[in-house]
Amino acid sequence: MTSEIIGVVGAGVMGRGIAQLFVRAGHQVCLHDSREGAATVARAHVLSMLDRLAAKGAMTQADVRAAAGRLLPVPDLSGLAGCTLVVEAIVEDLEAKRSLFAALEGIVGEGCLLASNTSSLTVSAIAAGCRHPARVAGLHFFNPVPLMRIAEVIPGLLTDPAVADRLAALVAGTGHRAVLAADQPGFLINHAGRALYTEGLRLLEEGVAGVADIDRILRDTLGLRMGPFELLDLTGLDVSGKVMQSIYEQFQHDPRYRPSSLVPPRLAAGLHGRKTGRGFYAYDDGMKQEPPEMPVPAAISGTAWVQDGDGAATLRALLAAGGAALADDPAAADILFTLPWGMDVTGVAAAAGLEAARLVGVDPLGGLSGRLVLMASPATDPALPVRARGWLAAAGRQASLIADSPGFVAQRVLAMIVNTGCDIAQRSIAAPADIDAAVRLGLGYPLGPLEWGDRVGAARVLSILQGLLAVTGDPRYRPSPWLRRRALLGLPLTEA
Ligand SMILES: NC(=O)c1ccc[n+]([C@@H]2O[C@H](COP(=O)([O-])OP(=O)(O)OC[C@H]3O[C@@H](n4cnc5c(N)ncnc54)[C@H](O)[C@@H]3O)[C@@H](O)[C@H]2O)c1
Repeated sequence: MTSEIIGVVGAGVMGRGIAQLFVRAGHQVCLHDSREGAATVARAHVLSMLDRLAAKGAMTQADVRAAAGRLLPVPDLSGLAGCTLVVEAIVEDLEAKRSLFAALEGIVGEGCLLASNTSSLTVSAIAAGCRHPARVAGLHFFNPVPLMRIAEVIPGLLTDPAVADRLAALVAGTGHRAVLAADQPGFLINHAGRALYTEGLRLLEEGVAGVADIDRILRDTLGLRMGPFELLDLTGLDVSGKVMQSIYEQFQHDPRYRPSSLVPPRLAAGLHGRKTGRGFYAYDDGMKQEPPEMPVPAAISGTAWVQDGDGAATLRALLAAGGAALADDPAAADILFTLPWGMDVTGVAAAAGLEAARLVGVDPLGGLSGRLVLMASPATDPALPVRARGWLAAAGRQASLIADSPGFVAQRVLAMIVNTGCDIAQRSIAAPADIDAAVRLGLGYPLGPLEWGDRVGAARVLSILQGLLAVTGDPRYRPSPWLRRRALLGLPLTEA
């Protein structure tokens, strides 16, 4: 790898991380910040991070000393004259970025690339202010840069394709994965991340479950590290709320990205999350106060009938282990169980002619392997899900109870994650393999949206969305053509 002379402008959170990444990969890095002394402080910070790596044995002291020699604070922008690439990580403001690039064009040589770490501005708009927009591209890293091993390379409409190739090779040389994303709202990762937040808020708005239950269900059944409300509290609703609104507006009010009416009053009340001590959760000394789970009822005797379908055999075995007597005939049972995909209990009762007062849903997603999720219709006798939870608890299983919802909690969120990934592919915003890698690395999901869809089955995901669309009439659930075609043709979602 040929080493470059890389200018980093803006020595804040992101600029420091970008400088650390490139200097560790063997490049010379010139760090500039308009705030006097900020670049020197940032250099000391980066070197302390490298020292920590050396203490852990991840680098040698000699490597740290060599890196220190390659990392230079530059008090004046003109000090970037010899750079082969300048990455800006200054304030997120179009005019500020445009005037910085205009100034840089008068300083750097012809062959120098100009990259912006913007997360929400249009790369083409930043480039359009330059005399040579062909050399300008987005290079979007994630916080903390050294640990988030992914960067989006975003060519603007006037960017020379060779520029994107050079940036991607440079990123790959640091050990991070580079993904190519089109200059569209949220690029790839922030676009893919919309599904979890908007559907989480939708479930809350609809009264399907409370904040803590939605988070618990999504962590335990989808294997997410954090649920949507924990994440919103961590990032701060003031920051995330703006991103939600901006992406929705940039997509011309496409209902898929519609923000929630729950957000503005929370913002007005200052419930921003962890940093204000209260958000969707309360925080005591920075520690999240986890609301208690529903109390576990004792198992009492009774008879259960389970409708045939995915997971029915497992559910029958669990109920029997918890002390229920199993009936072959729904007429002879106290509680009827159904395991629907993309339907609510109301819909199952109507379609299958089962008595709604005795009917309880169980989510078949995940093969009933972790936390179980029970669902009741407005007509379900409220005592019955409690009895059901008693049997499941006696069989050693934890069960959450939610209100009627076509697709429970996890099916809905998963279907929206997959559908959003499919639409990113359909719009040619990124290639399928890049979509999956970016979501795993950038959002930390256990699987990328396309591979996850294939795991669950494209036809199944399609049916969940169709169920949601039928019950709610909300076009946010319309299936992406990418999903529909591959589901109907039996093709993998991961293939173009
Ligand atoms: N923080 C994140 O999680 C994150 C993630 C991805 C992308 N980004 C993007 O990265 C950029 C920087 O974000 P940050 O969080 O590091 O901000 P920050 O506030 O921590 O740092 C910005 C730095 O830029 C300096 N600065 C401002 N205007 C300048 C100018 N004209 N010339 C030179 N220096 C200038 C400031 O003094 C400050 O030190 C933004 O575009 C942001 O949208 C941030």
